[in-house]
Amino acid sequence: MRSKIRWGILGCGRIARKFAADLRYVEDAELIAVGSRKREAAEEFAKEFPVSYKHDSYDALAANPELDIIYVASPHGLHHEHVMLCLKSKKAVLCEKAFALNSREAKEMVETARKQNVFLMEALWTKFLPHYNILMQMIQDNKLGEIENVMANFGFIPTAPIPERFFDPALGGGSLLDIGIYNVFIAMAVLGRPDLVESSMTRAHTGVDEQCAILFKYQNGAMAQLLSSFSSHLPTDANISGSKGRIRLATRFYEPSTTIEYYPERIDSKQIIPFHKEPGFGYQFEARHANECLRMGLSESPVMSHRDSLLLMETLDRIREAAGIIYPVDDLG
Ligand SMILES: NC(=O)c1ccc[n+]([C@@H]2O[C@H](COP(=O)([O-])OP(=O)(O)OC[C@H]3O[C@@H](n4cnc5c(N)ncnc54)[C@H](OP(=O)(O)O)[C@@H]3O)[C@@H](O)[C@H]2O)c1
Repeated sequence: MRSKIRWGILGCGRIARKFAADLRYVEDAELIAVGSRKREAAEEFAKEFPVSYKHDSYDALAANPELDIIYVASPHGLHHEHVMLCLKSKKAVLCEKAFALNSREAKEMVETARKQNVFLMEALWTKFLPHYNILMQMIQDNKLGEIENVMANFGFIPTAPIPERFFDPALGGGSLLDIGIYNVFIAMAVLGRPDLVESSMTRAHTGVDEQCAILFKYQNGAMAQLLSSFSSHLPTDANISGSKGRIRLATRFYEPSTTIEYYPERIDSKQIIPFHKEPGFGYQFEARHANECLRMGLSESPVMSHRDSLLLMETLDRIREAAGIIYPVDDLG
């Protein structure tokens, strides 16, 4: 394999720019190509992030023989189409969350990656961040005792210009797949697959979920209460509570800028747990891991496995079914 892994980016939107900026912190990565539906968008992107190849179609990007891996940064309603395109061209893929619209799509993507023997991973970046690893280590070290409850929320009021994907049902719009997924992820990371899922939502003007409230119940008595919202500013924190204490991941619990507050036993005895903060947005961690996987010749990440993505997707399907969240382009309804 070459000394630098050669990356391409599919879709020149907001997250694509942040990811491209963070690739600069990945020592053995080189961004060499972008693919856009429009030549001008690829040209604009390349002014900020110089690349050798500015493709004016995703087909051309996927066919570029110089690429080792493609980061799929399109709206989630199109991930299935775009990931399949890359995999069929035998390109490794790092695909943004939400991995797909539903389990059927996600299974097909995973099956194709396995058949083609090509690397595929969901870019659930939180799972690669230093604070997340500390949280999981503290739980493993029994700092919280038996975990009884997870409370997580993520909410903000989008301001103009509002990305069309936020509210467009055809693109998988709505709060659940966009931001609620982080609440679901953190609850499942701590408590596992819920035995019972209840949920309810309020609709935005386009019919997608503007707010989505979720309750997970577990046979051992544990519970999780999760709320996502595009109509209110929420604390966007996560509280993990057990018989021996509580951890609060403060504002923006899914990002590396969060703070870890530890409340051992007594509610008023707060400790701040320090952790290493690097420059950048935090997308370099997942990119470094993808590079390592490619160098080891893996077709699946041991950290964010296919099983992890399928389980997360299946749970999102269960939530959608209970809340009545239906997209015109899928078969969940
Ligand atoms: N991990 C994170 O922290 C994080 C943060 C934000 C978003 N995301 C995820 O990243 C993905 C993209 O989000 P974003 O905020 O970057 O979205 P965005 O700014 O709207 O960009 C999406 C890009 O997808 C391409 N695209 C292809 N078909 C499209 C269509 N029919 N409508 C709109 N765009 C289309 C466009 O690129 P071209 O015009 O160049 O083809 C567009 O610029 C989503 O799945 C989202 O959940 C992740």
